[in-house]
Amino acid sequence: MSYVLAFSATEPAELWAEAAAAAEALVAGEPDGIANMANVAALIWQAIPDLNWAGFYRFDGRELVLGPFQGKAACIRIALDKGVCGAAARARETRRVEDVHAFPGHIACDGDSRSELVVPIVAGERLIGVLDLDSPLPARFTAEDQAGAEALVARIATALAG
Ligand code: SME
Repeated sequence: MSYVLAFSATEPAELWAEAAAAAEALVAGEPDGIANMANVAALIWQAIPDLNWAGFYRFDGRELVLGPFQGKAACIRIALDKGVCGAAARARETRRVEDVHAFPGHIACDGDSRSELVVPIVAGERLIGVLDLDSPLPARFTAEDQAGAEALVARIATALAG
C-alpha cells in the first residue's frame, strides 16, 4: 500500500490544516507509535517548506531518545536540561526559537539550522516526546506555524504514543 499525499495550500495556516488532516488519516487505525512517527515525519518533510530536519524525539522516562526523522543524522540522546528539545519537553510547552545561536544550550546537530520549533507531545498526562522542526532560514517559524504544528500534534498525540 502506498499513500499519495498532495498539498495545495499556499497560506501557512491552511497548509498546516491540510497536513494535520493528512496526518490524522495516515495514523488512523495504526497502533504502532514509531511507525506513525515515521510517516508523520515524512509527511511534514513533504508538506512544509524550508526545513532541514523534521522528526521526533521519544521520552523514555528519563531523557529524550532520537526517533523517526527526515534530514541529517542527529544527536541520539538529549537530557531534559539540554537544548531546545529538552526545554520544550521539560516545560511541556512549545519552544519557538528565531535564532538558535542565541538560545543558551542549543544543541547543533546540523550546522545548517538557524531556527527551530519544538512541540511537546503529551497524551493524557504522559510526556511522549517532542516534534522537532529545524530550518536553515533565520526566524523561519511564525506564530501561525506554531499554532499549526501544535494542532497537528494534538490531533494525533494518542497515535504517536503507541
Ligand atoms: N537542536 C536541538 C537538537 C536536536 S537537532 O536539531 C535534530 C536542540 O537544541 O534541542
